[in-house]
Amino acid sequence: MNKTKIALIGCGFFGKQLAYSFNKLNTVLVGFVDLNIDRAHQLAEKYGSQAYENIHALLENTQPDLVIISTFNYAHREPAIAALNHNAHVFIETPFTIDQQECREIVELANAKNKTLFIGHLLRTLPGVIKAKQFLDENKLGKITVARATRQRWIDSSPNKDWWKNNIALTGGKLFNEIHELDLLCWLLGDVDSVYAQSTNRAHPDNLENHDIFQLLLQFKSGIFASLEMGTAYRLHEWSITIHGELGALVINFFNSTMTLTLANGQRQQFNLYDEFEADLSLRESGKAIQRYNELNAIVPLWLSRATEIEAQTILDHLNEGKESVLTQQTMDAVIVADAARESIKQKKQIDVICK
Ligand SMILES: NC(=O)c1ccc[n+]([C@@H]2O[C@H](COP(=O)([O-])OP(=O)(O)OC[C@H]3O[C@@H](n4cnc5c(N)ncnc54)[C@H](O)[C@@H]3O)[C@@H](O)[C@H]2O)c1
Repeated sequence: MNKTKIALIGCGFFGKQLAYSFNKLNTVLVGFVDLNIDRAHQLAEKYGSQAYENIHALLENTQPDLVIISTFNYAHREPAIAALNHNAHVFIETPFTIDQQECREIVELANAKNKTLFIGHLLRTLPGVIKAKQFLDENKLGKITVARATRQRWIDSSPNKDWWKNNIALTGGKLFNEIHELDLLCWLLGDVDSVYAQSTNRAHPDNLENHDIFQLLLQFKSGIFASLEMGTAYRLHEWSITIHGELGALVINFFNSTMTLTLANGQRQQFNLYDEFEADLSLRESGKAIQRYNELNAIVPLWLSRATEIEAQTILDHLNEGKESVLTQQTMDAVIVADAARESIKQKKQIDVICK
């Protein structure tokens, strides 16, 4: 089988990790682009490849099968449109974009070009999370009643005030920058009908605009009620999704890396989130560790590194063998709900979730 030709746009903290994970598979990294050309050169040297001055030169010269986009959150659209116009499949890091109209434009172009769009919702790909989705699809919980998601932790302010991750105009704010749990609620439970959201900043006075507490109340079209509480002002860490149904409850616990199904008849089954002990252990240790935002030269913990390897494998399995990839499903739902939540915070009222 021919190696999949991959180009990478955005060679920072996460781009480097993605290059590493895809390179382990049947791929060839054909070229790199970054606003900071030195970063592109570093990866080109590491993988025996080429750095290009701009996206156009990269695409013209390499004709990649797949383009990976790991640029700043607000800068996903332009490379995605360029890659699709060069008839490449596209993988975009989370959040898809920070504006749902940009998502729609990219989805429509991908459909028109008959190219696959993958969004880096990597928590969906973990074996224990896939199992949870399977249980829900098999209706193990019966009618779902209510769900609760948390991503609560403490992160100190960054000393670098000019860093893009401190600027909500560039990140979309924490709800977009850390969209994984909202995405899981949407992916596991279906279409959201309305959202009431409130947010504030209680613990990071040096950057007041960047809210550190978010609380969302969600009503789904199916009638399910759910809540999401997330942020970086919580001294006691929590990271989980709990789903209750008439026949039982299911807990995805990222803090201890387990997924537990408990049925009303007393049956209980527990699974690790990974198929590999060391990755589960790494995730458990990370829950207890001091949290911080990942700067350029941060070392990726094993659990995150493994998650990107699993997601890379699902992408290649999809492209080469036509296997279903969870990264192609409900690509823009979380951004649409986050957009409505942003509006709810602004207007201080419940907002209907509509695709604009
Ligand atoms: N899925 C996850 O768990 C996860 C984890 C970390 C980061 N991310 C996402 O990955 C993306 C990158 O984050 P990061 O932590 O690597 O940030 P980073 O700042 O370390 O790297 C971003 C890189 O993109 C480059 N860049 C920005 N705009 C560009 C453009 N228009 N053209 C070419 N290069 C451009 C920058 O120069 C920088 O080198 C973000 O969208 C982030 O949210 C996702």
